[in-house]
Amino acid sequence: MENNIVFSGIQPTGEMHIGNYFGAVANYVRLQNVGQYQTIYCVVDLHAMTTPYDPSALRRNSEQMFIDLLACGLDTDRSIVFVQSMVPEHTELAWIFSCVCSYGDLTRQTQFKEKSEQLEGKQDAFISAGLFTYPVLQAADILLYRAANVPVGQDQKQHLELSRTIANRFNNQFGEYFPEPQMLATETPKLLALNDPTKKMSKSLGPKSYVGLFDDEQTVRSKVRAAVTDTGDPDTPISDGVRNLLSILRACGHHDQAEAFEREYAQGNPRRYAPLKDAVADALVALTHALRMRRAEIAADPQRVRRLIREGAEKARAIAQQTMRDVRRLTGVMAGSDL
Ligand code: AMP
Ligand code: TRP
Repeated sequence: MENNIVFSGIQPTGEMHIGNYFGAVANYVRLQNVGQYQTIYCVVDLHAMTTPYDPSALRRNSEQMFIDLLACGLDTDRSIVFVQSMVPEHTELAWIFSCVCSYGDLTRQTQFKEKSEQLEGKQDAFISAGLFTYPVLQAADILLYRAANVPVGQDQKQHLELSRTIANRFNNQFGEYFPEPQMLATETPKLLALNDPTKKMSKSLGPKSYVGLFDDEQTVRSKVRAAVTDTGDPDTPISDGVRNLLSILRACGHHDQAEAFEREYAQGNPRRYAPLKDAVADALVALTHALRMRRAEIAADPQRVRRLIREGAEKARAIAQQTMRDVRRLTGVMAGSDL
């Protein structure tokens, strides 16, 4: 049978934004709901340690991200949802993978270059080895569950190529065992920053760059209103900022409205963007309002949330332990022998 296992991970670094949602998380939910996949989703707290972070906030943020994922529509009866560090097999497999991943492959990872450059600009810059080997842990996350399908945004493309390289090299060296993970993208694999459409929407560009998935109406409206567009001069092409707004509108399900704007802009008159911004804001307000209500409902029962986190880890661990039994045998480490 074709591999039907889906795996993805998201870092617990504060609030989710519409880029995460339309680029990845909406796809987590869709794949769960089509019913033909075994879907496994992970809050990757160990990945959040690769850049400077606050230890006293990490557990809280992991729990919050778990709640946010449920609010987005993940259902623990249909998906395994868990927190990475509760399944220690992730780090064991990451070590083994670090021995089949070449140093050269890691040096070519553009995300490492970008993030380390960002850090270098700061005072007391510290670039951890963990930031460098991060894609090895990511490959371990996916392959521990032998998943071949990975819903992520465009920025993860290179990491997934590396996870295929790692799977191949492992299979060549130790025997055919792992599948080659493929990226599953949405229609909006890369939303651009509202305040700077030359870059992808990201928390690291500050709150003006994104709309938070749980932002209130006023915040959503003011951020969309401030989005960078263009002068609307019919002799100049439509800018990336405007295209980005149109794709947000489509991602919200308002295809007809988006097409109507496009037709209007094709007529060669000066373009006015206030109606487009209003339509985008209305669509996002409806989405974020519904999500905020769901989140409040789920957060109102912290006992249940904690039970679900424990149960998710147990389910994930059962699979992870089986994989590690096989991997220890294939690689010849002493653990798992009959000694
Ligand atoms: P992160 O918050 O970096 O853990 O990202 C979580 C998921 O959201 C990953 O699958 C990313 O590829 C995706 N993602 C992050 N930013 C964007 C964006 N601007 N557009 C589309 N997808 C994104
Ligand atoms: N690196 C991903 C990001 O920054 C998060 C991640 C960690 C992930 N492990 C993963 C994504 C496994 C997909 C599969 O967004």
